[in-house]
Amino acid sequence: MSTPEKRGPGFERGGLFKDPTIGVGMNFLVTPGGSLRGEVEVPGDKSISHRALILSALAEGPSEVTGLLEGDDVLATASALRQVGVKIDMIEGQRCRVQGLGLTGLTAPDAPLDLGNSGTGFRLLSAVLAGQTFASVLTGDHSLRKRPMKRIIDPLMLMGATIHSSEGGYPPLKIYGHYPLSSIEYELPIASAQTKSAVLLAGLNANGVTRVREPSQTRDHTENMLTGFGCPVEVSGGVISLCGGARLSGRTFSIPRDFSSAAFFLVGALIGSESELTLPSVGINPTRTGALDILRLMGADIQIMNHRNVAGEPIADLKVCACRLRGIDVPSTLVALAIDEFPALAIAAACADGKTSITGVGELRVKESDRIRSIVDGLRALTIDVEEYPDGMTITGGRFSGGKVDSCGDHRIAMAFALAGSVSRGPVRVMDCGLVQTSFPEFSDVARKAGLRLEVEPRS
Ligand code: S3P
Repeated sequence: MSTPEKRGPGFERGGLFKDPTIGVGMNFLVTPGGSLRGEVEVPGDKSISHRALILSALAEGPSEVTGLLEGDDVLATASALRQVGVKIDMIEGQRCRVQGLGLTGLTAPDAPLDLGNSGTGFRLLSAVLAGQTFASVLTGDHSLRKRPMKRIIDPLMLMGATIHSSEGGYPPLKIYGHYPLSSIEYELPIASAQTKSAVLLAGLNANGVTRVREPSQTRDHTENMLTGFGCPVEVSGGVISLCGGARLSGRTFSIPRDFSSAAFFLVGALIGSESELTLPSVGINPTRTGALDILRLMGADIQIMNHRNVAGEPIADLKVCACRLRGIDVPSTLVALAIDEFPALAIAAACADGKTSITGVGELRVKESDRIRSIVDGLRALTIDVEEYPDGMTITGGRFSGGKVDSCGDHRIAMAFALAGSVSRGPVRVMDCGLVQTSFPEFSDVARKAGLRLEVEPRS
């Protein structure tokens, strides 16, 4: 994976906490012991939920989406779509109806669109707005305002949009849309599904055929879902193409449960004594399940049962039992396919025999936090030996002490270290876990029901 863009100025360590909206509300206190047993139902897939709302909005006619993740990230995308005229009704739990406006039917917002903590919502909606006939401003929380947007600004400007950003290519962005955009052939400088998706979504409102080449395979939900909404997408030899102007048709759509949320429980069960968990109906799209392969290389026994398809995405029930893990060199071919799972994988590595080396993951530095730094600091706070590199880390397996871990306002760091507390020598307090709401609002209840001794404390 090539060198990523840097996080924006001001993302100095601890900088996150200057923003009162980050990580508000709660700490997790986890007491060791217990095992994880029974069935764990994780919520709907975050990546697919964003895309379901966006594609439904761009389709002609109504769509009905079930299994939607009602996390803050997806709700931010829904609220931004409402601001550009889309009618979205939540019917009942995890079900919603979207009245699509077609590719050019969105209307100018009368205020900035606030995507909160959501990089996916921000980047995908920027691309949609680049091909409209009006201007819009997109912004986000303190973390999102430090995440690099040059990766989408460059191709969208090549296609004909005018985009103003904060210095260095950070939000807020002011996007002066242009219709129609010009199609491009674009070689992604980094493996990024959000950037690939942005170019493809902009390509919907472009003249001619837009082509994107990716340096390595990333999640392919946009390609699958565009096809499902009636826009043919061709994929050949790492190049994805679509023809602008194809009409999308409203449809009913069911969202699989999120593999990335399941990963915390897969790891929690593997490292716990006598744990045995089943996770029903989890998405197992192979562009998302690199962590399964990595855990199996470490010796994990994870069974995939009842393999089936839902709305063009493979799903299955996963069964996992506690077992001894061994350290490995994580193959570079699996990095992009496991990009969101490294916080959970680091916990597995810390419990494995021997060393686990993770390299080529420089992209982790520009996620919701600098995840290499957040993981390294968290592991060290629990007395695990870890060496940090610019693009990765080597973790030596050991035993977690108790201690205090800073989530750095990052949902996945918070959940990963909560699971570490089940096998530590003393209680683990994970600070500022409020942003777990972005991807897994029911995490603490689900984890407790599975057997994790977790208490939610108001943030002191
Ligand atoms: C996502 C793509 C990934 C991932 C993110 C969600 C998506 O980012 O980390 O959480 O929904 O397209 P990249 O754009 O870096 O691949």
